[in-house]
Amino acid sequence: MSTSGAVTIWERGRLDARVGPRQVLFGRMYEDPSIELGAFRPGSRVLCIASAGCTAMKLAPHHEVVAIDINPVQLAYAERRFEGDRGVRGRAERIMDFMRFFGPLAGWWPSRVRAFVELDDPAQQMHYWERELNTWRFRAAVDGLFSITALRAVYAPRFLDFLPNRLGSVMRGRMERCFARHPNRSNPYARSLLLGELSSEPPPSQANEIQLVHADAASFLESQPAASFDGFTLSNILDGTDDAYRQRLFSAVKRAATPDAMTVLRSFGNADADSPANRAEDDRSMLWGSVLVRPAHELGLER
Ligand SMILES: C[S@@+](CC[C@H](N)C(=O)[O-])C[C@H]1O[C@@H](n2cnc3c(N)ncnc32)[C@H](O)[C@@H]1O
Repeated sequence: MSTSGAVTIWERGRLDARVGPRQVLFGRMYEDPSIELGAFRPGSRVLCIASAGCTAMKLAPHHEVVAIDINPVQLAYAERRFEGDRGVRGRAERIMDFMRFFGPLAGWWPSRVRAFVELDDPAQQMHYWERELNTWRFRAAVDGLFSITALRAVYAPRFLDFLPNRLGSVMRGRMERCFARHPNRSNPYARSLLLGELSSEPPPSQANEIQLVHADAASFLESQPAASFDGFTLSNILDGTDDAYRQRLFSAVKRAATPDAMTVLRSFGNADADSPANRAEDDRSMLWGSVLVRPAHELGLER
């Protein structure tokens, strides 16, 4: 059966189900590029999802980078950031701002949260977390905000179908996993998620060498020479897509991959949480159910 018509909901360039213009969805990325920097051979040619451009900019000093996005508005935004633009708050940041607005109701006063973000010893962090922040009001608020009913007001159904049950409790678990392992003070994602402060690092000089492509990742890879990429970091582009698209993307990656090529694939879902390839706990952005780091030739063998 041909799957070449398989498409993805991300093409709409919106998180909600409304009809309207495409948007800048992500003002920053919430994907820790130390995963990619550890997975890809220095000097190699890699494909990354452009999104807000953060991963591409971290990879650019070490790799030949092709950054692709299906959403032209998001791609143009990444390009502006490569040129030095300080960036904006996208839809995702506005949703998080809204959630953070309720913080004081749960005892999360800005000074209390800031003191937590300044800690740099995971044992101390967990002590502070249990004593000051992990209150029953916080747990109830997160469980309410991450209930499917609440999320339906903001996200299109396809973005919710694959999410684990009791998402609030799952997200709290992912946060604790991060605080117990990574020092907050040097973790830019603790700062952005808990305080809403976005990093403002200037682009590296190699940012102007990043090749930008407006296309769907599967279609683009199908058009590329075989064995032309050594690494692929695919963000969580399979979240919200169907099995036909997954198969199509995996086939396209395998064809475009050199023999030792590595892949990184994230998901908010928990379906691959127990995979031996899952490095989610090493990703300081704390959000992910799985961050699969695998050779390209192993794609699709697990399902
Ligand atoms: C998957 S989303 C998730 C955001 C990401 N986790 C982050 O922290 O930035 C990232 C980007 O992928 C793009 N995207 C989604 N599916 C794609 C596809 N099939 N091909 C190319 N880009 C895609 C979206 O337009 C969006 O800009």
